Amino acid sequence: MAVLNFPHQGVVINGVRYFPRKSLTHVLEDKSVYEVVAEDGSSLIAKLVLLEEDRGTGIKGMSSFDRETFLSQRWGPDPHPNVHFPLATAEQDGIGYVLTRYLAEDLESVLLREGPFTPRQTLHVLQQIANALTFLHGKGISVRDVKLDNMLVQLDGVQRGQVIREMILLKETIVKLFDMGLAIHPDMHFLREGTDFYGNEDYAAPEMILRNAEQMENPHLMDMYSLGICAYYLLTQISPFKNINVQTVIALSLRDLFPMFILYNDTILPFSLKKVISTAVSYCPLDRYQTPQEFVNAFAAEIPKEK
Ligand SMILES: Nc1ncnc2c1ncn2[C@@H]1O[C@H](COP(=O)(O)OP(=O)(O)OP(=O)(O)O)[C@@H](O)[C@H]1O
Ligand SMILES: [Mg+2]
Repeated sequence: MAVLNFPHQGVVINGVRYFPRKSLTHVLEDKSVYEVVAEDGSSLIAKLVLLEEDRGTGIKGMSSFDRETFLSQRWGPDPHPNVHFPLATAEQDGIGYVLTRYLAEDLESVLLREGPFTPRQTLHVLQQIANALTFLHGKGISVRDVKLDNMLVQLDGVQRGQVIREMILLKETIVKLFDMGLAIHPDMHFLREGTDFYGNEDYAAPEMILRNAEQMENPHLMDMYSLGICAYYLLTQISPFKNINVQTVIALSLRDLFPMFILYNDTILPFSLKKVISTAVSYCPLDRYQTPQEFVNAFAAEIPKEK
């Protein structure tokens, strides 16, 4: 497993030299995320990607770097208020540097510290991510990695470790979807899709895990499935497939049974919400909500109105 380190002499990106300030995420598999500071004092996040693997087979590494580079070059760093693309990417000595503006904290960290979200707080997150997905799908981009640790909270003056659940409802809080390392767009001709499963098995749609080519034809619908898992995770703090390996999930057809499980076994949520979420995570893509807004509208219809 490769260990990547940010060079002490820094890295020059778009003519500006960046130095590491402190590491945020320590070497998990072959990735590191660093807080870096430019000569002008501005603070950013740098993600390091090892670029030495075979371009054709690896979905991570080179391929994920190429995807982020393509999208940020075509659409810029902030193409939509709820979308966070890199500011810049650069290559140096076999390592790719993906720079993004530093935001407060990802939603999984908030959930794990703060506990389950109320339906109204969850709706607030879902609406913003649905806005992001509506925009991205409209541009032909499928994210294929929609998950809570790829959603960042932006709130002025608030930093990592300081986001509390109630802040989600504030008007000035913005939730942004980021990490386009698995995204796909029809013009990404330079990429060859592998045949193995890739992505996060906790959130991945069944057709992505099984690599069912026919059902993968509409990759936007994989994002719809993942958004349903996000809703369930936010409301219950239970990530349904966490720590269950992909082979077990496939062998037991767990994903096939999951919508039924939510409806009839799970006791935490009211039946009406369970129905909405079980539709979102339907096994067959065409049984899911077909647009992010359709899902959000169905969800909103089942929660108590604001007084
Ligand atoms: N701009 C940012 N502002 C604040 N935190 C960030 C930022 N970028 C990344 N992080 C933190 O680092 C974590 C990992 O970042 P990122 O998703 O880009 O890496 P990754 O290697 O693609 O991870 P994975 O493959 O597991 O999704 C995020 O979940 C978040 O906690
Ligand atoms: Mg990520």
